[in-house]
Amino acid sequence: MLKKKAIIFGVTGQDGYYLTKLLLKKNYIVHGVKRRSSSVPTNRISSFLNQKNFIIHYGDLTDTSSIYNIIKTVKPHEIYNLAAQSHVGVSFYTPIFTANVNAIGVLSILEAIRTIKKDIKFYQAGTSEMFGKTASRVQSEKTIFNPQSPYGAAKVFAHQITRNYRDAYKIFASNGILFNHESPFRGDNFVTKKIISSLSNIKIGKQKKLVLGNLYARRDWGHAADYVEAIHKILQQKKPDDYVIATGRECTIKEFVNKTAKIINLKIKWKGRDLNEIAIDEKGKTIISVDKKYFRPLEVDYLKGDATKAKKILKWRTKITLEDLIKEMVLHESKQLIKKS
Ligand code: NAP
Ligand code: GDD
Repeated sequence: MLKKKAIIFGVTGQDGYYLTKLLLKKNYIVHGVKRRSSSVPTNRISSFLNQKNFIIHYGDLTDTSSIYNIIKTVKPHEIYNLAAQSHVGVSFYTPIFTANVNAIGVLSILEAIRTIKKDIKFYQAGTSEMFGKTASRVQSEKTIFNPQSPYGAAKVFAHQITRNYRDAYKIFASNGILFNHESPFRGDNFVTKKIISSLSNIKIGKQKKLVLGNLYARRDWGHAADYVEAIHKILQQKKPDDYVIATGRECTIKEFVNKTAKIINLKIKWKGRDLNEIAIDEKGKTIISVDKKYFRPLEVDYLKGDATKAKKILKWRTKITLEDLIKEMVLHESKQLIKKS
């Protein structure tokens, strides 16, 4: 039987790792697109490099010719665009680069599909950051977008242009609207990984303090392994469409810290308010504090997703709880610490 061919833009990222693993298991030939030089090299995909169904191509979403050439050479059945400057905070420092990658890069892929082979199925990695400042206590496919960052604004363009190409050219182009999802392979500068890594190091005396920004933003956190299953299902439907993928549960950054501290058996007590808020350990030493430099010029205060449509149509549901996700990340961190010692 003819094997399905997929291109993954953003193969070196967290979701790139989990999606590659899933597609190889499903017997796809996976063509991963990698920049020559990563922003933060992580070697996530090193275990796939010797597999015959995994092929690497060099390319960059800011280089239209590279996108065009890869798509023309591979002529895949499916394209998954996971590539992005994905850090919301960083997007305030690199807004034009962020827009070039996260918005214009997506248009470049769609244009290549339109001109090379219109029956390629396309997945665009949309985000709950598109909802931004919202009055809706739960966000679904019907909630109005009001992004609060260059990252979120660029993703709204990508979302809309994906819909436009679907309607105008009858391309099978679908958007996922994914809420935060984490894993042991999460980038170091996202808050979950930073908290877990720092508290693990503090516990064994290798780090003195964890410094955070806004402790009171609320996020709906799931596991990346669950979320790539939804991504794959989105492209297996009869019709292209847009889907919210979320757990429907949320908590604050501070609550996430408390859950992590409990799991690694680190006793902490919170004191003070606002920028003077701290957490002390059993000896009264400050081990967590707040610094303005980690606050963003605009914040998204509250995200909680309604994945009813995905549950009904994709038959998708989240399997891994937040507690189990944290436990897995803590275990991975402790293995890394043992390796380093
Ligand atoms: P990630 O770990 O930061 O991975 C981003 C990927 O994009 C990396 O492979 C990166 O390559 C690549 N990339 C960056 N700039 C590029 C460029 N100019 N050309 C080609 N590739 C480029 O992000 P993730 O967590 O896996 O997220 C995957 C996608 O889902 C992103 O689009 C993100 O915005 C979106 N999303 C993520 C979440 C979440 O909570 N994780 C939620 C909603 C949506 P390098 O290794 O070379 O840097
Ligand atoms: N990164 C970071 N570092 N965030 C912090 C810190 C800190 O020291 N202290 C507090 N925060 C707060 C941020 O202000 C934000 O409210 C929340 O923690 C989560 O921040 P991140 O982990 O950086 O994730 P994000 O929610 O901004 O963005 C992630 O999820 C989006 C989906 O909603 C990224 O994966 C995006 O790519 C994704 O689209």
